[in-house]
Amino acid sequence: MTSKQMKQSPGKGLPANLNTPTDLSTAAVAAISETLRQLLADVFALYLKTKSFHWHMSGAHFRDYHLLLDEQATDIFAMTDPIAERARKIGGTTLRSIGDIAQHQRLLDNNEQSATPKAMLEELVADSRCLTKIMRAAHEVCDEFKDVATASLLEVWIDEAERRTWFLNETVHGRN
Ligand SMILES: [Fe+2]
Repeated sequence: MTSKQMKQSPGKGLPANLNTPTDLSTAAVAAISETLRQLLADVFALYLKTKSFHWHMSGAHFRDYHLLLDEQATDIFAMTDPIAERARKIGGTTLRSIGDIAQHQRLLDNNEQSATPKAMLEELVADSRCLTKIMRAAHEVCDEFKDVATASLLEVWIDEAERRTWFLNETVHGRN
């Protein structure tokens, strides 16, 4: 491949100022960017749900649960910028608004007024497992196009999500 060919950006339809040169194909950029867009929407949704449960926690274990969820929310939020910037690094675009998140998220919101601590933690266990599954599927898309850099980020985030699932599961189902 010549350097001239390599300079062609596959960011079809994008304004010229958003074109980032990449050796990935147009199909690769489209597929990976869309995968990252959906993942970012899910991560924002989970971040806000975790914060909401942190804010609305109550009961005898308030302090433990409140602190655990804050710690997890911080880790989840830390994923957002690298996901968005990964899309831009390969010449794709990413989410632009709260409306965009709502349109792309697959993890569901929870606007329940009176969720119990147990219900909150159980829901986060399920969401965390779901996010892990979503990231494994995203890794397969990356493998298909040999995008090892995105795959490598996903491997770390899968490990972190499994840690969150472990902590949440032990907290809600652990036996003395
Ligand atoms: Fe807080």
